[in-house]
Amino acid sequence: MNDNDIRALFASVAPFSASDAPTLETLAASARTIAVRADEDAFREGDPAPFVFVVARGAFEVRKRAEDGSDVALRTLEVGAVGGLTNLAGDAPRSATLRASRDGALLVVEKKLFVEAMRRDAALTAAVLRALGEKIRSKTAQVATLIDRTRRDPREKIVFFDAKPYERESFDRLLPESLRIQYVQAKLGPTTARLADGFSVVCAFVNDDLSRAVLEELAARGVRLVAMRCAGYNNVDLSAARELGLSVVRVPAYSPYAVAEHTVALLLTLVRKTHKAYARVREGNFSLSGLVGFDLHEKTVAVIGTGKIGAVFATILRGFGARVLAFDQREDSALIAAGVRYAPLDVLLSESDVLSLHVPLNPSTYHLIDRDRLAKMKRGVVLLNTSRGGLVDTAALIDALKSEHVGAAGLDVYEEESEYFFQDRSDRVTTDDVLARLMTFPNVLITSHQAFLTREALENIAEATLSSVEEFLSARPLTRAV
Ligand code: NAI
Repeated sequence: MNDNDIRALFASVAPFSASDAPTLETLAASARTIAVRADEDAFREGDPAPFVFVVARGAFEVRKRAEDGSDVALRTLEVGAVGGLTNLAGDAPRSATLRASRDGALLVVEKKLFVEAMRRDAALTAAVLRALGEKIRSKTAQVATLIDRTRRDPREKIVFFDAKPYERESFDRLLPESLRIQYVQAKLGPTTARLADGFSVVCAFVNDDLSRAVLEELAARGVRLVAMRCAGYNNVDLSAARELGLSVVRVPAYSPYAVAEHTVALLLTLVRKTHKAYARVREGNFSLSGLVGFDLHEKTVAVIGTGKIGAVFATILRGFGARVLAFDQREDSALIAAGVRYAPLDVLLSESDVLSLHVPLNPSTYHLIDRDRLAKMKRGVVLLNTSRGGLVDTAALIDALKSEHVGAAGLDVYEEESEYFFQDRSDRVTTDDVLARLMTFPNVLITSHQAFLTREALENIAEATLSSVEEFLSARPLTRAV
């Protein structure tokens, strides 16, 4: 833009248009142009705010991070729109991001210079105050409209704790018209339970805290249903829930293939050392030393817990030609027909080359794999746990790995996982010495409770959770009650 164009633009938009001729001249002379390509940000929320600006070309979206971490487009600024006036006093950073919708440009005037011009020119100052006043009035009107709409919204509201973007996609897609979800990034616990105020349904996940104190707070704030979007519910104090009149539902069955297949992935990785081969080849190391594995064919594989997931795992391993031994309170005749043999736990421990856990965590299964049972296992056994961390005494497992009694371990779960799993902790030190020790073994493969994470399972989870909420709200019997 040449000087005349800049002057003409400033003269046509408030508050610049109110300034006297010398001030307008000074502002125009000091203005510089910032060109921004489509989809790029002129500045981001939280950046310092050193200038006021006028949109000179193109159009820009004003975007802001919502409480749940999502990015919301608030409005579009077209040519002639002025911004940055709210930052004139003080050092507050940008309150929103400015993203170009198409190739565009901003004319910017440094804040210091603009404030200097306001000091000299009372008309400019008055125009700035008028513009800010109008902005406040229009925001107040918007807030009133939103409050009114929320009050009139007849939809039942679900507060969804520990929300992750990969979960939202299926829930948003399958959400019935009668329901509304408020996603919250925080985990549910004593300090966050108050966020459930005004919601009748709380949706929680494996590492949320649903102890008595938290449930009491939820009930006091009007919650009537706790919908666990997972199979396990060892983190819910069920007797407290019952006493408080809170119903609890879960997702008893969702793609058991997701978890069983992930268990097989851990097993094959450990047995064939593909995690090492991958890293080696990327470094240009094509040697095979240290990569000797073993066939699963004709090996003995123990499956502890032959419910939905254990049964799929056992069937897959039969496909490999393994001898599958099983332990469960109930025998599955279809598995027996497929060649699986049930035996006492001690037999599984002493005869198996691979041992995989698929029982739920409850008082009777806590530390099911303890020091004594580890000692009874075959030397070199591969231990797999994709069920719950509390099934294994981790300190005893570490000792068994150090003495090489356990040959390898594939763990998708860990006793104290809630502080770590599902989070990016890459810029922080690991203060959990047990987890840190586990991570040092070359023959231990840890995944961050991701066995359930397939498209199919996420879809099943959203479907089942939302239909449980609908059942509850229409006072139908709860088919997935705990
Ligand atoms: P399920 O209820 O179908 O099967 C559990 C089996 O364990 C049943 O056959 C039951 O009879 C048996 N069992 C329970 N207590 C036992 C005991 N003390 N001794 C011997 N057998 C016992 O459950 P499903 O769907 O197969 O899930 C198993 C576990 O997997 C869940 O409880 C959950 O903790 C875990 N899981 C892990 C996921 C992950 O992403 N890592 C995802 C989903 C489930």
